[in-house]
Amino acid sequence: MKTIRPEDYRHILFFTGAGMSAESGVPTYRGAGGVWRSYRWEEYACQDAFDADPEKVLRFHELRRKSVLACQPHAGHEAVARLEGEHPQVTVVTQNIDGMHQRAGSRRVLELHGSLWRLRCPQHGIREDIGEAYRRYRCEDCGNWLRPDITWFGDMLDSFVMGQAAQAIRSCDLFVSIGTSGVVWPAAGFPQAARDGGARCIEINPEANEMSSLYHESIRGTAGEVLPGLFSS
Ligand code: OAD
Repeated sequence: MKTIRPEDYRHILFFTGAGMSAESGVPTYRGAGGVWRSYRWEEYACQDAFDADPEKVLRFHELRRKSVLACQPHAGHEAVARLEGEHPQVTVVTQNIDGMHQRAGSRRVLELHGSLWRLRCPQHGIREDIGEAYRRYRCEDCGNWLRPDITWFGDMLDSFVMGQAAQAIRSCDLFVSIGTSGVVWPAAGFPQAARDGGARCIEINPEANEMSSLYHESIRGTAGEVLPGLFSS
């Protein structure tokens, strides 16, 4: 496998999806064993489901928290975090809500789809809440249900995070996409945007998908196998 010299690039951007965490044991969404194969998102991952039965939705997210806490970041997450310590500008834009990049030590992480580790009150805003069970299901100030701070089906993306991601994608000169099926918009448009901005675009995914032809290079391997040896001066 050819290696990449990080010093040849000004701004390296990693764009990650569920496949990034697969080797840690966190299930993907659409492949074999995917979350949406066992659970209907209409019942667990949209505002209507939450409005109909908030406890059921919160319990589902607690199950996900428990399974993620049992997993550890792998050598691929660590390689990304290490590069941030060695290179002047590295950004992670992730669709993942599992917090694995941060656990591996990455600091500049833009979470497009929110986080399993935050809840929000419609009146009082965001609460960080880390642990298997949520500390509380209702806001201690107003009694409203706290909803997971996650971009569910039908939700708008957080405009501030989206703006930061768009800016980072415009300014990067190396765009490395890892483990995403590229079907969920607007994130699915990022490889084209990076390419239009002049970045070299690389994909790491064991399987090809509709977006694969957009990349200058596709590496058919897993995140944990490929990332630790990808960068070398
Ligand atoms: P998907 O489950 O749609 O796709 C996972 C991708 O990872 C597939 O292309 C796999 O081939 C690839 N893959 C599997 N194992 C891998 C490995 N070890 N290394 C590298 N790649 C691997 O997940 P996403 O594209 O992330 O939204 O899905 C996008 C969004 O849809 C998610 O953020 C989620 C979901 O609904 C929310 O939950 C808000």
